[in-house]
Amino acid sequence: MSAAKRIVLSSDHAAIETRQAIAAHIEQQGWDVVDIGPTTAESTHYPKHGAAAAQRVASGDCTFGIVLCGTGQGIMLAANKVKGIRCGVCSDTFSARMIRQHNNANMLALGVRVIGDGLALDIVDAFLSAEFEGGRHATRVDMIDALEADS
Ligand code: RB5
Repeated sequence: MSAAKRIVLSSDHAAIETRQAIAAHIEQQGWDVVDIGPTTAESTHYPKHGAAAAQRVASGDCTFGIVLCGTGQGIMLAANKVKGIRCGVCSDTFSARMIRQHNNANMLALGVRVIGDGLALDIVDAFLSAEFEGGRHATRVDMIDALEADS
């Protein structure tokens, strides 16, 4: 399967079941899912899981990544520290569509203590079915990349 259909999933201990539900959902859509865990409910640290998923995307091994924690915020912050990552937390489908269309986000973060599994799956669908529009939005994304390069 081409890398264009490969997606990495990760989470902390708070979000294992939702992550597995997302994996099953998108596998049915033909995505090659790289689920890098964790698999036990033992307390763990979201920064290392966010970074591990982000590195899979930044390296080109996976086109997209989905990361989850209690709020989505901590793991999003960690993922965005990896060069080349544009990750947004979404709790609604409009934002999930827009971070692809306008921001060319390559990762999505979800907070399982904020939203339920049904909405999480809808948000994932909105994110994965939207495409970057380019044009003026590409100019702005390039500006974000320049900030990263200068820092
Ligand atoms: C873990 O208790 C919690 O802090 C974590 O899942 C996440 O919400 C952090 O941003």
